[in-house]
Amino acid sequence: MTDRELVQAACSMLERAYVPYSGFPVGAALLCADGSVFTGCNVENAAYGSTICAERTALLKAVSEGHRDDWQAMAIAGRGEDYCWPCGSCRQMLYEFAPNLKLLVARGDGDFVVTTLGALLPHAFGPKSLK
Ligand code: THU
Repeated sequence: MTDRELVQAACSMLERAYVPYSGFPVGAALLCADGSVFTGCNVENAAYGSTICAERTALLKAVSEGHRDDWQAMAIAGRGEDYCWPCGSCRQMLYEFAPNLKLLVARGDGDFVVTTLGALLPHAFGPKSLK
């Protein structure tokens, strides 16, 4: 799967986002080594703090289906003018399983930046920190 196809998979999740409070849909798609793709969207809640981001929806789907150590890349897409950078909580959750995950961060016009989780979350606290 190409980077652009993974971004497209993230974009296709925008219509599934449940965003009655923010009106800000986000889509994510996580590619694994065997070619499987776990998608996600943000799912908001009337108790705002219970909202789940798109990235964490995709992450939880992957881990709960047995994919936790074969992640190749995640695409994140929004509809805004700016690139849809992952929030701090999502960076931290991703770090647990893939400290240097390749990230494709897209904006509404489909353009995307290729970066890594390591670049976005340097000196992170992770499993090794507990040893
Ligand atoms: N959101 C995500 O889904 N991912 C992020 O990394 C940033 C924020 C969602 C949460 C909320 O539903 C909306 O965007 C506005 O914050």
